[in-house]
Amino acid sequence: MLDQISETTSSDLSADGSSELDITFALAQACFSKNDWEGVCHHLKRALELAPENPSSHLFFAYALFSLGDISKSIRHFDLAILHEKNPQSIEDLKLQLFSTPHITLKGFFQGAHAPERQIFMSAAVDLIKSHPAPFRLLEIGSYAGSSLLTWANAAENFLDGECHITCVDPWGESGADLYNSNMTKTLISERAYQVFCHNASLNRENVRVTPMRGTSSDILPTFEPNSFNLIYIDGNHHYADVLHDIVESAKLLKSGGIICGDDLEFQLFQCEQEFVENNKTADFIKEPKSGELFHPGVTLAVAEYFGEVSNFAGFWAMQKSSNGFEKISLNEATGLRPPIWPREFHKRITAYFEDSDELGRLI
Ligand SMILES: C[S@@+](CC[C@H](N)C(=O)[O-])C[C@H]1O[C@@H](n2cnc3c(N)ncnc32)[C@H](O)[C@@H]1O
Repeated sequence: MLDQISETTSSDLSADGSSELDITFALAQACFSKNDWEGVCHHLKRALELAPENPSSHLFFAYALFSLGDISKSIRHFDLAILHEKNPQSIEDLKLQLFSTPHITLKGFFQGAHAPERQIFMSAAVDLIKSHPAPFRLLEIGSYAGSSLLTWANAAENFLDGECHITCVDPWGESGADLYNSNMTKTLISERAYQVFCHNASLNRENVRVTPMRGTSSDILPTFEPNSFNLIYIDGNHHYADVLHDIVESAKLLKSGGIICGDDLEFQLFQCEQEFVENNKTADFIKEPKSGELFHPGVTLAVAEYFGEVSNFAGFWAMQKSSNGFEKISLNEATGLRPPIWPREFHKRITAYFEDSDELGRLI
């Protein structure tokens, strides 16, 4: 991405023909090569004074601000890069790159990109219990950069008449979880995931209040009142012992009629070789030998051990608490929402998925 900045920069500079601008840019690039983002910003501010409509300056400035954690200002400059860019193809490329909407959908931050249909089912789960008296209290364990939070907030805004309080529990740092994507670990340790989360949380809707709680689920869950949440979503550490812990504790925190649910149930236990799953329960993300497809053995085993078979929608699992324990849910009369934040390619995939599926009542 930054290679592209350097390329576009030099061509735009010669078009401007300003030697001070050339020098300023060269200084910004020299700072960039030393990872000195403060220096980059300093020189780019001057570059923007000299040529306020130079899209490359705005783009470079956006990345520098992003790297320094000033997400809101970074987005403004990214939007200005798009605004001042003349080439329609470059505009399209820019829109695919970073903040094409106020929400941050940079690929590395966009959890759920591998299975966007799950986000539709998540919103439908809110629709299913929308008649619960307000405030609707939702607990998310494992929030990362807030992509699933945006799905919940959008569902709350569209389906709930009253207030929705969303509590997000995540250490947003070193957690000991061996996340399947090493970039995620780096992003968490550098604080970037938390900064992006805070940005996404700040975009919440009128009836939605978001409370981040920094810490592991084992530290934080015991601080909540039993029977106090309408929906609990488990997407933290995916190792067996952690998932089981999160299910056991969440089951106590859920109100009767509430939904407990989670991510990454690619296979239920009855669909796999049980011995293989048990032998690999501390692995994060591995190949299931019969199908050759990747799965999370810890999620498969913990979910099966606590509930047996669960309702499962393309890897999003869910159960409803009743006076007799937990029951499966059906979403075939519920409405699912396409998150407005999504890039076009996800919308295409969703359309294709739901053309062949009768698991959902309606998709809007
Ligand atoms: C898969 S990501 C969550 C993605 C997020 N739900 C989304 O869809 O956008 C997993 C997150 O769980 C967090 N995590 C790891 N161990 C945890 C624990 N013990 N308690 C709470 N969160 C944990 C990690 O910091 C990471 O942000």
